Parts: sequence; structure tokens; C-alpha cells
Amino acid sequence: MPACAGCHNPTGAGIPSQFPRLAGQHADYTEAQLVAFRAGTRGNAPMMLTIAARMSDKEIKAVADYMAGLR
Ligand code: HEC
Repeated sequence: MPACAGCHNPTGAGIPSQFPRLAGQHADYTEAQLVAFRAGTRGNAPMMLTIAARMSDKEIKAVADYMAGLR
């Protein structure tokens, strides 16, 4: 699985205009986005579809909690 930081930045700040900021985002929101990418209901980012398809519920929850704590 490609590292999230490669596109979203190690601090979660994102790369403006291309890759969204993730740091400090509410865990519930992040979790919902990843579940939507996996389910194909959010289809605007093919790269994220590929990534989310390989994530388990537990991994999605863990990463969402982690990102909510980044500043
Ligand atoms: C290959 C580059 C790439 C990698 C690697 C990547 N992402 Fe993304 N991510 C994107 C792009 C592009 C978007 C969507 C941009 C848009 O919606 O305009 C996105 C969107 C998201 C969103 C939705 C953000 C929002 O504000 O709605 C979340 C959450 C997310 N990524 C989490 C992750 C996590 C967690 C990982 C690691 C498991 C990861 N990404 C790895 C490119 C990447």
C-alpha cells in the first residue's frame, strides 16, 4: 500500500490544489470518506479508490483516529 504521506504530506497538510489536507479532520468524516471510496460511492479520486479497496474496517478506523490527532 502506498504511504499516505507520499501524497498527503507527513504532517497531513496535503499538497494544496491536488491532495487534500487530512490533519485535524474529524475522525468520523475521514472514516466516512474512506468507506465511500471503498464502496465506490465517492468516485472523484481513482488513486484513493485503489488504496481504500485494500483497507480493512480496522485500518480505516485507526488511520482516521490518527489523522484527527495530527496538527
Ligand atoms: C497516490 C496519491 C495518494 C495516496 C498515496 C493517498 N491519497 Fe488520499 N487522496 C488523494 C487524492 C487525489 C484525493 C482526493 C482529492 C479530491 O477529492 O479532490 C484524496 C483524498 C483523501 C481523503 C478525503 C479527504 C477529504 O477532505 O474529503 C482521505 C480521507 C484520504 N485521501 C486519506 C488517505 C489515506 C488514509 C491514505 C493512506 C492509506 C491516502 N489517502 C493515500 C491521493 C492520495
